[in-house]
Amino acid sequence: MNTPLKHIAFIMDGNGRWAKQRGLGRTEGHTAGAQRVSDVLTRVFDHWHIPFVTLYAFSTENWKRPAYEIKAIFNLLTCYLKNNIDSFVENKIRLRVIGNLDALSKPLRTNLEMAMQQTATFDTRTLTLAINYGAREEVLQAIKSLSADELKDLQWDQLAARFYTANMPDPDLIVRTSGEQRLSNFLLLQSAYSELYFTETFWPDFDGHALDLAIESYLKRKRRFGGV
Ligand code: FPP
Repeated sequence: MNTPLKHIAFIMDGNGRWAKQRGLGRTEGHTAGAQRVSDVLTRVFDHWHIPFVTLYAFSTENWKRPAYEIKAIFNLLTCYLKNNIDSFVENKIRLRVIGNLDALSKPLRTNLEMAMQQTATFDTRTLTLAINYGAREEVLQAIKSLSADELKDLQWDQLAARFYTANMPDPDLIVRTSGEQRLSNFLLLQSAYSELYFTETFWPDFDGHALDLAIESYLKRKRRFGGV
């Protein structure tokens, strides 16, 4: 049996292709994708007892998408937050956000900050949303935040403490849906020893069974972290 799964992260890919296959618009794919989130979280937390889940919701590169699509994704995030804050509190789920929130609309930022504040004391389950997140940007902002003195004898832990993911375990398993096999600027340094799992399933079709297959694959792997 492998090391216990403490942190699972998802690159929720394939919403657009899922929609296209059905003759729908891309935003309908994102809507279907957003609808999958609660089921996946329930299974991750309640069935598999994995304490940390991270979802890649919007990358620093996603600004290249058409304005209508960006707007739709942020609307979905806003609705998701509004509809789920009570359930986060009830189920003692701490909400964290990683990414540069400066570029977000004031109402969304305020909602996110309030939700983070309301759930800040929960310490057994953490849902992290990566919003306007990019690993390269994360590294740059971390380095820029250090003083010349701190930089001189910089140790890895000191740099990692400046990442958005400070105090969070590195992901044990990163799942990417839709058949693409790359990390796309997601948790690049935190994934140094992560197991990667790729499935052809599009995110809107990613259900409990698909999740179980990913976790069972992880549990069969041998992690050596550079050892023998
Ligand atoms: C990638 O699929 C998906 C995104 C860039 C957006 C993900 C956002 C959501 C699922 C909705 C909001 C999230 C939450 C947590 C409520 P794609 O558009 O690149 O698909 P494609 O590669 O098939 O075009």
